[in-house]
Amino acid sequence: MDKEFAGLSVIVTGAASGLGRSVAVELSQRGADLALVDVNEGGLEETEALCAENGSKTIVIPTDLSDPDACLRPVAKTVEKFGRLDSLCNVAGMLVFGHAAETSVEQYDKLYAVNVRAPFLLFQQAFPHLEKTAGSVVNVASASGLTGHSYIAAYSSTKGALIALTRSLAVEYWKTPVRINAVAPGGMLTPMATGTTVTEDYDPQLLFIGSGPREIAQPEDVAQVVAFLASPRAKRVHGSVYSMDQGVTA
Ligand SMILES: NC(=O)c1ccc[n+]([C@@H]2O[C@H](COP(=O)([O-])OP(=O)(O)OC[C@H]3O[C@@H](n4cnc5c(N)ncnc54)[C@H](O)[C@@H]3O)[C@@H](O)[C@H]2O)c1
Repeated sequence: MDKEFAGLSVIVTGAASGLGRSVAVELSQRGADLALVDVNEGGLEETEALCAENGSKTIVIPTDLSDPDACLRPVAKTVEKFGRLDSLCNVAGMLVFGHAAETSVEQYDKLYAVNVRAPFLLFQQAFPHLEKTAGSVVNVASASGLTGHSYIAAYSSTKGALIALTRSLAVEYWKTPVRINAVAPGGMLTPMATGTTVTEDYDPQLLFIGSGPREIAQPEDVAQVVAFLASPRAKRVHGSVYSMDQGVTA
């Protein structure tokens, strides 16, 4: 497993924070060349420094993934820098927490743009390159795309859509060497989880419906699974949605 990504080039979106940063650091320990994509430029630079400590070659590509035109650039820049693409890890995501009846059209549209359209557009750009390298796609969905979760209805629906997208692409491109999978984490201790303010107008009985009795996962735990699915060791894993929720959807 040591340096199993040596000579391989990987795009990680959402790399400025949380799980995306952990995936980038994990892959840098395994020898990958990394294209780090996020809207948060300062966070990207911090991640780049962490990856450089592990000896990785990196390129930072600040990108607002809610802009469809901007989604056309990261793959071309990555291939220009590293000459190839071996994996696309779509980790970036956004959450809107609140009562479904109060979610605005703007919030709903932005959730879909970042959580579903961006992975789709990046896939379109990446596919011809991944076909050449027998590469892989890993989409980060959520346990909330598999079961109902209160107060994040629109977000959950984007993750359900991302799971359907993953499975549909896996079937459509079955006869190519490209592997396409998803990870569906449960609760993870990242800024997305800790940055959500819960006030008393939320019913605690409904609020914790999606959490189980085990300790919340750290992003480093989930990064192990993303890295495995992205790696050549997962060569027979295709079209899977890997639950990483410690039993919640079981
Ligand atoms: N934290 C959890 O409990 C949890 C559970 C299940 C799934 N997830 C998923 O894990 C993934 C990583 O989230 P996280 O928990 O690390 O949260 P996070 O907020 O720490 O990281 C999300 C990253 O996505 C980036 N991003 C958001 N909007 C963007 C945009 N328009 N353009 C480019 N980048 C953008 C953010 O800047 C941030 O760096 C997300 O897809 C999230 O939905 C999180």
